[in-house]
Amino acid sequence: MIYNFDTSIERRSTNSAKWTFMPPDVLPLWVADMDFPTAEPILRALHERVDHGIFGYQFDSPSLREVIVERFANRYHTTIESQEIVFVPGLVTALNLVSRITGETGSGVLVQSPVYPPFLNVPKNTERTSVTAPLTLTRTGSTIYAEIDWDVLEASVTPETRMFILCNPHNPVGRVFTRPELERLAEFVIRHDLLLVSDEIHADITFAPHEHITAPAITPELRSRLITLGAPSKAFNLAGIPCGFAIIHNESLRRRFNNESFALGVFPSNIGFTASEAAYREGGEWLDQALAYLRSNRDFIEAYLTERLPDAAFTHVEGTYLGWIDLSAYQLPGGAFKFCIEEAKVGLNDGATFGGAAYKDYVRINFGCPRSTLQTALERVVDAIANRETA
Ligand SMILES: Cc1ncc(COP(=O)(O)O)c(C=O)c1O
Repeated sequence: MIYNFDTSIERRSTNSAKWTFMPPDVLPLWVADMDFPTAEPILRALHERVDHGIFGYQFDSPSLREVIVERFANRYHTTIESQEIVFVPGLVTALNLVSRITGETGSGVLVQSPVYPPFLNVPKNTERTSVTAPLTLTRTGSTIYAEIDWDVLEASVTPETRMFILCNPHNPVGRVFTRPELERLAEFVIRHDLLLVSDEIHADITFAPHEHITAPAITPELRSRLITLGAPSKAFNLAGIPCGFAIIHNESLRRRFNNESFALGVFPSNIGFTASEAAYREGGEWLDQALAYLRSNRDFIEAYLTERLPDAAFTHVEGTYLGWIDLSAYQLPGGAFKFCIEEAKVGLNDGATFGGAAYKDYVRINFGCPRSTLQTALERVVDAIANRETA
């Protein structure tokens, strides 16, 4: 089946957060969901489930466990056991839950900025201390390349640091970390006796030649101190149907996670289980086409900005549908986000929310939308900057 990603579909009437949070004259390319209908087999499975008519509690799905185990073997070339999977509604829930059971009040949670804002809230939410090791953002021409600064990472860790939250593929800088980088990270985590929480929610959105390496595949020594988080929600555009999973190899850690999860009454919805299984079993054809479309959107942004905003810099996105754009050269009044929303009427994410004022001249753009939406948004930003310069 051939899917059409070019059609714009009205979403405000569904109370979509992306489309209703900002004023109606603002074109929203911010929060990470896509403006595309999901795969036909997922819709079919949901219709069948809805037709059953009874929506009682569901705590488990042996068939979803089975397909996740298969996916890790076939797509990520590593073996996980069915009983190592714990289902969760969402990954933000899982991150906060893990922090609650790791260390004690005041112990450190390490993250790499700029990063998905809820990572930065985890320590605050769970009475832990925030430890931030900024990535190095190097500009060459119009391209920003984000790398781990190993000296900064070593210097940031304290004896109280107990947990490291990795984002791979990385939101917002779009890196898909390489095997050498991940091996060095694993060595770092082991040496400092940390728990590694690897958020891999964007794992299925990578652009060749970049390939996602899942954390359980890095080295067996890591597994006792590793929690890998995943979900089909980003790749298959199911963010409003909560269902994700944690892979926890260490039995006592898994027991603590399960106990906390049970105490909080945290489990996916029954239609979440249904949609996730259909995504992983039958969503491949849609995903391949979505990735090709996203890749062409990524390339379009690069070509467009290079030509029309030559002083801007942006990441060459290896994975995710999120671009990270530096508009500092234009010295936009009030910061890049405010300028884009107020003057260009384009709703992006404020760079500052990814790690503070150091990123106030950056914006994050979500290119999971029809090309026409993307083009209109970029034109509006370019025009607003041009009008400002000639005003
Ligand atoms: C890295 C990362 N983790 C987690 C989430 C959200 O996950 P959930 O909706 O499952 O809480 C997002 C959403 O954009 C994300 O980018």
